[in-house]
Amino acid sequence: MSAFNEEHVLSVHHWTDRLFSFTTTRDVSLRFSNGHFTMIGLRVDGKPLLRAYSIASANHEDHLEFLSIKVHGGPLTSRLQHIQVGDTIIVGKKPTGTLVIDHLLPGKRLYLFGTGTGLAPFLGIVRDPATYEKFEQVILVHGVRTVDELAYHDMLVEHLPSHEYLGELVTSQLRYYPSVTRESYKNMGRVTHLIESGKIFSDLDLPPMSPEEDRAMICGSPAMLRDLKHMLEQRGFEEGNTSKPGDFVIERAFADQ
Ligand code: A2P
Repeated sequence: MSAFNEEHVLSVHHWTDRLFSFTTTRDVSLRFSNGHFTMIGLRVDGKPLLRAYSIASANHEDHLEFLSIKVHGGPLTSRLQHIQVGDTIIVGKKPTGTLVIDHLLPGKRLYLFGTGTGLAPFLGIVRDPATYEKFEQVILVHGVRTVDELAYHDMLVEHLPSHEYLGELVTSQLRYYPSVTRESYKNMGRVTHLIESGKIFSDLDLPPMSPEEDRAMICGSPAMLRDLKHMLEQRGFEEGNTSKPGDFVIERAFADQ
């Protein structure tokens, strides 16, 4: 039996010349937890060319969604960026990953720190009612270089709060904090600097992060993961994984080719 399903592209959205997202059909047998990633890709010369991608759609939706960068000359993304509605994508049947709320100890607040395409796994998590059952407050922090890279900004600010089922939970429990590093914007600076300076907490009127009350998920570039992990560990947070829940969990924002 094949390890992959063949899915059809339903829509493609180009956010910038560096960033795009697309939706596909979803095989009814595909099961995953919000925050999971799976292998996806294209057949090239008859062979699967695959990379790990976080699933940006929630597990209660009947389609799949993925957010990707476009790397000039990158084996997969230089091809994937040209996909059109109706094209075939291969999708691994075994999603997995550490960014799952069950891998965190109970806490009061959940911080979701994503840079670039590291936002993707959190899009399912903020659309999961279980997230709001487990945590009183959810703070989604998205760090990007330029304002137009704030993918899903309008969905998070406008559509989600007025969503038929999730709107009430989102309005009362979700805070969204977009930050930009290379252009002027209402919030500026790297996530790490915003935590260190305390600016993010004063802006949100929240206490500085502590392992007693706060939990975190981190998804971004290797450098961002390293720096933020170090900062949290200095503050007494312990990392969790699939076998032992902790105060924070991390995952690379995969697609860099
Ligand atoms: P910067 O513009 O200062 O490099 P990328 O698109 O390269 O993944 O970057 C996404 C965002 O992550 C950018 O705002 C970038 O800031 C920021 N970033 C890059 N490295 C780190 C790091 N080590 N810690 C925190 N943020 C980072």
